[in-house]
Amino acid sequence: MKKYNNTDFNSKNIGETIELYGWVAKKRNLGGLVFIDLRDRSGIIQLVVRPEQKDYDLACSLKSESVIHAIGSIVERESKNLKIPTGEIEAIVSDLELINMANDLPFEITDTTTALEDTRLKYRYLDLRREELKDKLITRSKITMAVRNFLSNQGFIEVETPVLCKSTPEGARDYLVPSRVNKGKFYALPQSPQIFKQLLMIGGIEKYFQIAKCFRDEDLRADRQPEFTQIDLEMSFVEEDDVMDLTEKLVSHVFHEVRGIDIKLPLMKMKYDDAIRDYGSDKPDLRFDMKIKDITDIFQNTEFSVFQNVLDNKGVINCLVVKEKANDYSRKEIDKLTDYVKTYRASGLAWLKYQENDFSGSIRKVVSDHELMSLKEKLNIEENDLILIVADKYDIVKTSLGALRCKLGHDLELVKADDYKLLWVVDFPSFEYSEQENRYVACHHPFTAPKDNDIDKLLTDPGHCYSKAYDIVINGYEAGGGSIRIHNHEVQAKMFEALGFTKEQAKEKFGFFLEAFDYGTPPHGGLALGLDRLTMLLTNTENIRDVIAFPKTASASDLMSECPNSVDEKQLEELALKIEK
Ligand code: AMO
Repeated sequence: MKKYNNTDFNSKNIGETIELYGWVAKKRNLGGLVFIDLRDRSGIIQLVVRPEQKDYDLACSLKSESVIHAIGSIVERESKNLKIPTGEIEAIVSDLELINMANDLPFEITDTTTALEDTRLKYRYLDLRREELKDKLITRSKITMAVRNFLSNQGFIEVETPVLCKSTPEGARDYLVPSRVNKGKFYALPQSPQIFKQLLMIGGIEKYFQIAKCFRDEDLRADRQPEFTQIDLEMSFVEEDDVMDLTEKLVSHVFHEVRGIDIKLPLMKMKYDDAIRDYGSDKPDLRFDMKIKDITDIFQNTEFSVFQNVLDNKGVINCLVVKEKANDYSRKEIDKLTDYVKTYRASGLAWLKYQENDFSGSIRKVVSDHELMSLKEKLNIEENDLILIVADKYDIVKTSLGALRCKLGHDLELVKADDYKLLWVVDFPSFEYSEQENRYVACHHPFTAPKDNDIDKLLTDPGHCYSKAYDIVINGYEAGGGSIRIHNHEVQAKMFEALGFTKEQAKEKFGFFLEAFDYGTPPHGGLALGLDRLTMLLTNTENIRDVIAFPKTASASDLMSECPNSVDEKQLEELALKIEK
């Protein structure tokens, strides 16, 4: 049995005989000596096999990534490598055992690998041997440990909830599991433990948490996986501030424990409407300024027909000011930005540069001198500033400029690594209108309590109802979200009605849940943090697959085990299922 880690040893152990196990990370023959970099999870130690030693031929034949067992004595190294913890020593091998020889590798195991991600995913067990990935998994484990310790100390208990559940419409599409015993019926995998954690509150648990697997069959993005993990929590007898206060303490504890970073509390709170107005996003990245500016009033009486049309149609004119960068953007570069905002449905991007006390740009000739002077004054324009303008419907203007702002922040390197800006976004609308479904859908989920003053408006004016929901946002990512829940049967029934469920549908889907409300439901609320996203943030990666041991590709498949896959006819028969060809 392996007793020691490679990095347990240093110059204090010189003269000792030690026993090591690990993988051959690198092997070199130098002047007759064989040098082996032996790697285990802790790191590398150098082994030396001399020609006179009995296992010399074996050492010469070892291939990279083979697993070996070595006994040797520690000596001081001649040429030290102070970059690694064992760099002052090496082990002179007396006995060498080959445990398993490795085949030729599909890619080289180094952090600077140029292998395609698909190849790395197919051989994920090899990819995991790279230090970068291993370190991310270690960070992930530290986060869950820190969470468990913090929440246990605060009186929370960890409770597991079912994975085979009832399908309830909650937002994304469900993953379904056919039942063999109840033919023609299905379980759904949970999109989150939402209903169960509320039932735990009705069950008197008061403070619950769970590191919970969630499943959502939705289009994937760089920060989304079909199967992901939440740090899920729920508390009874609380208001919004109680949950936010607990959560920010939890997050700051995690930052401190895992990365030694101190987060200043309390976190700032920004209203949803203000976040959209100033940053065009409900997850603003506050690591740089560049707020969206409203310049509609300057063009109230404009002669420029494009702007006139927009204003006639109750649209708005907004802009971003890119300070001191006009010189860096050629017409071609700005065309690329125009194409970019068009992907967010903006009809175009007008622009102005201010250089040598004069304006130039796409709308220079069609706007008046007076308008230009007003712009200069309102936006505090200085030499070499670039103004990028979108005129359109409010939502399109905000979304497209919000996305452009993030792109510019990235392109201009306005964000620094290890700079963390956390905030709460609060006062979300209860509903958003879905053009696709032609009805209001819940902005958060159907169990979120409306603000007390808005309960009466649920059915009459849903577009102007606000909710007791909150999101914790870190560096432009939604790291977590939650809400105070409805704890009253009538209000919950009203909410289902506002969302377009008939009484029968609500009873069929959520009857068991509504019934529970009638047996003594405490006021309660909670939140879920995305463990994967938190790990991404704390390990500085933008790729969610980097923080998951065995992730899925963008097409929701596992390249290593080749799943999803077809199943036997017999399995289908047992489930009374037929595949349509
Ligand atoms: P919500 O749907 O906002 O809330 O999810 C909470 C957090 O989970 C993370 N997340 C994801 N991470 C990776 N891949 C995904 N596909 C994915 N979807 C969500 C995000 C998000 O902020 N039951 C509620 C929580 C509550 O109200 O208590 C819920 O699931 O970081």
